[in-house]
Amino acid sequence: MSKPALSEAEGTARFASRGPGETRRLGGRLGRLLRPGDTVLLSGDLGAGKTVFVQGVARGMGFQGSVSSKSFVLMGEYQGREFKLYHADLYRLEAPEQAEELAMEEYCEDGALVAEWPERAPHVFAPDSLRVRFEVTGERTRGLILEAGGERGRYLVERLIADAPPVRNRRR
Ligand SMILES: Nc1ncnc2c1ncn2[C@@H]1O[C@H](COP(=O)(O)OP(=O)(O)O)[C@@H](O)[C@H]1O
Ligand SMILES: [Mg+2]
Repeated sequence: MSKPALSEAEGTARFASRGPGETRRLGGRLGRLLRPGDTVLLSGDLGAGKTVFVQGVARGMGFQGSVSSKSFVLMGEYQGREFKLYHADLYRLEAPEQAEELAMEEYCEDGALVAEWPERAPHVFAPDSLRVRFEVTGERTRGLILEAGGERGRYLVERLIADAPPVRNRRR
């Protein structure tokens, strides 16, 4: 993952990933920055790389086990070094009310929350969540667009931009 090409607006950045490893690494960098109470919403088609990104987040938080989307229906929990990562996948949600029953934000306040398919129940998430939009740009390439929903999200985006490895000069 190279330095984002442009930061279109404050709190927004687009990263280009050239393989699952790069997506996992960016997730790992975010995982090391997350604090209890943070919410990260992941949007994009099936196979876009959302769960791969969560694998990196969990690793960055110090979770040693494996992360898959098949081990739970709506919510998975991974114990990190200092606090838990809650991993919601709302793909199979039948009605938005089901998510209300989970009382997502309260249930997850002692840890960080990442959610796939948040558009299935957008009203249950805090408006200041950090959003990541995944775009499939090729077989192994993805665009990851980060959008901060508030001050905390802007801080996370700015840190991820600042810590990104510099663009390597490519030979022509
Ligand atoms: N640059 C990339 N970033 C993430 N995944 C990638 C990338 N290139 C190819 N892939 C593949 O795309 C798939 C993404 O799957 P997954 O993370 O489960 O998607 P989602 O959770 O968005 O449905 C994996 O098979 C992964 O190996
Ligand atoms: Mg998934």
